[in-house]
Amino acid sequence: MTKQNHPAPPPEAFKSAMRGLVGACSLITVGQGEAANGLVVTTGISLSADPPMILACVNRASSCWPLLARERVFGWQALGAAHQPVAERFSGKGGLQGAARYAGADWVTTDTGVRLLADAPLAFACAVEDLIDRGTHSIVIGRVLQITTRPDSGALLYWDGQYRVLTN
Ligand SMILES: Cc1cc2nc3c(=O)[nH]c(=O)nc-3n(C[C@H](O)[C@H](O)[C@H](O)COP(=O)(O)O)c2cc1C
Repeated sequence: MTKQNHPAPPPEAFKSAMRGLVGACSLITVGQGEAANGLVVTTGISLSADPPMILACVNRASSCWPLLARERVFGWQALGAAHQPVAERFSGKGGLQGAARYAGADWVTTDTGVRLLADAPLAFACAVEDLIDRGTHSIVIGRVLQITTRPDSGALLYWDGQYRVLTN
């Protein structure tokens, strides 16, 4: 007999367990000028190569969510070994909100109007292909419009509640 309807473990147990999973830090950037916002995620991954698509899971209670759902284009970039300060800003550390999170880093605005981190190991301009709501989050599927890469930038990871760095 299967037990699909077994009661769910408490969210705290899930969050605590997930500390044991290595996360690759990436950044979602949305909007322009003073209206810009963004957030750091560890849920950004490749979905498909043909056509090129990525996905990330975004909390619908985050300050970035309404803008992302409205704009329909966004930047997605992996964070490199030097990017812990960027990650901290885009997680809202110290109460930083919106466009203030972009200070202290270099950005390139693509002709799709998306702002990308200039020295990211990889950066994609994306169009929203689909938004799939599940629980507190929405699975954001991005169709890749433009690609830039910068090899040898290392990687920024998050594991056991702390940032870690990977380099060649
Ligand atoms: C390492 C790390 C990974 C995160 N991953 C996600 C994620 O995958 N999805 C998400 O919605 N929020 C994630 N967050 C939280 C957001 O970056 C941000 O802190 C949260 O949305 C609150 O931001 P707000 O002030 O814009 O609402 C992560 C935060 C950290 C520090």
